[in-house]
Parts: sequence; structure tokens; C-alpha cells
Amino acid sequence: MIELKNVSFKYELQENTLIKNINLTIDEGEFVGIIGKNGSGKTTLCNIIRGIIPDFIQGKISGDIIIDDKNIDDIERGEMAELVGFVFQNPFSQISGIKKTVFEEIAYGLENLGVEREEIIKRVEDVIKLLKIEDLRDKAPNELSGGQSQRVAIASIIVMNPKILIFDEPTSQLDPLGTQEVFDILKLLKSQNKTIILVEHKIDMIAEYADRVIVLDDGEILFDGDCHRILSNRKIEEHNVSMPIVSKLAHQINDRRQGFFKNIPITLEECKRELEAN
Ligand SMILES: Nc1ncnc2c1ncn2[C@@H]1O[C@H](COP(=O)(O)OP(=O)(O)OP(=O)(O)O)[C@@H](O)[C@H]1O
Ligand SMILES: [Mg+2]
Repeated sequence: MIELKNVSFKYELQENTLIKNINLTIDEGEFVGIIGKNGSGKTTLCNIIRGIIPDFIQGKISGDIIIDDKNIDDIERGEMAELVGFVFQNPFSQISGIKKTVFEEIAYGLENLGVEREEIIKRVEDVIKLLKIEDLRDKAPNELSGGQSQRVAIASIIVMNPKILIFDEPTSQLDPLGTQEVFDILKLLKSQNKTIILVEHKIDMIAEYADRVIVLDDGEILFDGDCHRILSNRKIEEHNVSMPIVSKLAHQINDRRQGFFKNIPITLEECKRELEAN
């Protein structure tokens, strides 16, 4: 679904190349978490994949980017909007500000594409039901809480039915309840075989939901692979990426009682199973 071959990128006004020779293949239906310390290039990488680099943000890019079997240079902007959906960190910045109700807000993208009225209504109704936001449909978009806004923002992306969804720290401004609501949606999207890229600092959530994790450091891929294998490894802490809390605890217990945890868990569920087996 997504393939990057030897991709490097340097921002116009920066001296150094930020993204360095990235090679990456993401299959349809994969749920990939991207982690790494601040400034490691996570957002830049997302912007490369969704094609706004180098179109809107200038710089020097090299290598090949293939999205859904097409070279990114051959994908038109409208087509890209239907192929790749992007959800930002700040839910409020995604609300258009010109629509009176949540229903109209969700319909906005489809209107811009010139989709027929009947079809728009059906698709918006379906998404509202899918995300269980019936209670928000007649509310004013600018009167929503952070968590509600983020769910509406996600609804306006899902209604376009993109194959690929990129989330860049979608829960960083949300409380625990709002965060859980967003992750419930991510789980639902995964069950629909969407290809999902999630940049997230909440490592416990990545451990719980992603299948695969990519650790970026200084614009390079440091680790790429099975979520369990990478997140349970203490090595990631040397790169300022924290381990899931249960993994940390399990390592600390093993330091005192060698072999207590035969497998280092990354989720509470795994931890429970491991303890029960003991
Ligand atoms: N438009 C830009 N022009 C020049 N430099 C930029 C631009 N955007 C980001 N940078 C620089 O590129 C580097 C990587 O930024 P990026 O936003 O991709 O990191 P990140 O991993 O998403 O960080 P964070 O965890 O803080 O969101 C940073 O040093 C940043 O200052
Ligand atoms: Mg970022």
C-alpha cells in the first residue's frame, strides 16, 4: 500500500538532511505505530507520505514514493484526498469554521468533491452511526469539547473512505476518556482493513493497538518490526523512547529475581497471562 525507496529530505531553510535514506513498505491493513523523540522526523515522514512535502512545504526530496501502486508524482490532489486521510494533533484546527452543525461539517469534504446530495446524506449518516456520535450531529462544531471535536474530525476523514489513514498524535490534547474514544475508533478502522499509521507518544497505547512499530531517530529508522519484539527491548530506552509501563516493571522484577518473567509483556493483558502461568 505504501512503499518508500531510499527517501531523503532536507527542509529548504535547514542545512542538514533530516530524513535519511528511508526504506519502508507498509501493507494493506497494517497498523503501524511511529515513535521517536521530539524532532526525530515523525511528522515530516507523515507529510512526505501524504504528499504535502514537497508540494506545500518546500525542500529537497529524493527517492521513490509509491502509494497504492502509483508513484506519488502521478497522483492528483483530489485523488490523494480520497486515498490518504490525515488527522492532526489539534482537533480544533481541523474544523472548517463555516458549517453550522456537525452533520454539515462531516459532509463538507464530500461537497467539495461534488458528490451527489443523496449519496452525501447516506455516507454522513453511516459514519455518524459507525462512530456512535449521533448525540453530536446537530451540535455546533465550535461548541464541542476536545474529544468530541477529534471524533468529528475523524468522522470527516472517514466519510471520504480513504484506504490509508494517518494520525499524528491525535490524542495529545485529549483527556483519558477522549483518548480511549479515539483508540476505540482506531480499533474499528483496523477491523475494516484500513491501513493505519499512528504517531503517538503514549507508548502503552501503541503497545495495545499497533501490530508493528517504527522507531525514528534523527530522521533514520532505528528499529522496524513486530511491536512486541521492539517495545519489550530495553534498548529503545537508550534512544529516549520509553518502554510500556508493564515492560519496565517486568524488567525491574527480572533484575531482582532472574527469569521471573519468561516473556517480557508489553500490555496488561500479556502481563496477567504471564503471571498466571507462573
Ligand atoms: N517547515 C519546516 N521547515 C524547517 N524545519 C522544519 C520544518 N518542520 C519541522 N522542521 C524541523 O525538522 C525536525 C523534525 O521535525 P518533525 O516535526 O518532523 O519532528 P517530530 O518527530 O514530529 O517531533 P515532535 O515529536 O515534536 O512532533 C525538527 O528539527 C524541526 O525543527
Ligand atoms: Mg510531530
